[in-house]
Amino acid sequence: MIRSKLPNVGTTIFTTMSQLAVQTGALNLSQGFPDFNGPQALLDAVGRYVAAGHNQYAPMTGLPALRQQVAAKVARLYGVSVDVEQEITITPGATEAIFCAIQAVINPGDEVIVFDPCYDSYEPSVELAGGRCVHVPLSNDDFAIDWQRFSDALTPRTRMVVLNSPHNPSGALISRADLDQLAALIADRDIYLVSDEVYEHLIYDGVAHASVLAHEQLYQRAFVISSFGKTYHVTGWKTGYVIAPPQLSAELRKVHQYVNFCAVTPLQCALADFMAEHPEHIEQLPGFYQAKRDLFCDLLQGSRFSFKPTPGTYFQLVDYSAIRPDLNDVDMALWLTREHGVASIPVSVFYQTPVPQQRLIRLCFAKREETLQQAAEKLCAI
Ligand SMILES: Cc1ncc(COP(=O)(O)O)c(C=O)c1O
Repeated sequence: MIRSKLPNVGTTIFTTMSQLAVQTGALNLSQGFPDFNGPQALLDAVGRYVAAGHNQYAPMTGLPALRQQVAAKVARLYGVSVDVEQEITITPGATEAIFCAIQAVINPGDEVIVFDPCYDSYEPSVELAGGRCVHVPLSNDDFAIDWQRFSDALTPRTRMVVLNSPHNPSGALISRADLDQLAALIADRDIYLVSDEVYEHLIYDGVAHASVLAHEQLYQRAFVISSFGKTYHVTGWKTGYVIAPPQLSAELRKVHQYVNFCAVTPLQCALADFMAEHPEHIEQLPGFYQAKRDLFCDLLQGSRFSFKPTPGTYFQLVDYSAIRPDLNDVDMALWLTREHGVASIPVSVFYQTPVPQQRLIRLCFAKREETLQQAAEKLCAI
């Protein structure tokens, strides 16, 4: 008999819904990935580097040229100066960075506060470190953090808080005032932060991202994580990075070097070149995705779904109470895929304790215009 270390983990809803989309031929707005390619110059650069023989192990901490580009980016966007050698580590995906950060500092018996609904990789990572997640629900209407509830959840065992802004699945943003609140509440405590900022460039309506990197007090205890996959439309490359103060980076690297050792070499080479040559890509990204959000939301105005345009990420939540209030969200997502040809993600799967009567599904709009039009047509016909 195997004594599973993760007895509560099964096939994720993301796999289930994507498989069902393939089986039924439905449009796949479930899993979060674009149905268009990354920039041609970036793709071409990978081919060139592979052909030129850049196919052996990269340095454990990441290619220096790429770390330099990351440092230049955060200096430009957030006005912060981070040490290229000691504070930046390139990882095979943000997921690996999250895992390594948690393993690096969580010990058996430690508690980690996560805000529900939350991304699914946090809890298994905490459990494998012997810790326990304490789930604090976000508000049901706008997915804001209730700082009183957070404060009530703090105990002497609290060792980490996981933040995620822009937030998957809701798109909600954490403000500078939120960060100040957090800093005040944990000021005298021995608590680390994981700040999952993989959607840092997907923020709309002119709002600026409140990065933990720019919050001096919080940064001292933080692992700030991002993903090239999201930023450059290449989620399958699984390449990300973590920025943390030197002592925390040193602990994270001890884990990272035995989980994966390094990220993929030619991808790092290509990303470094592309970032140097095309800084405008990041500047144009909010507008690029805002246009998709606006198109999708305009088209959905003709449907019976209700929604507020998302402030961030490439996910749009929609409420289906006016359509099938009798179905819970998992059954709704299955029904929508099988009967109407659009795959989505039910929001309840992001909760430890789903909200009774919540009727929300998540749709990914990182899609070509024609895909969004076809999907909206199907959704408006219901
Ligand atoms: C909130 C959040 N964090 C982390 C990740 C993982 O990023 P990566 O693909 O770089 O591992 C995702 C991907 O969907 C995400 O939505």
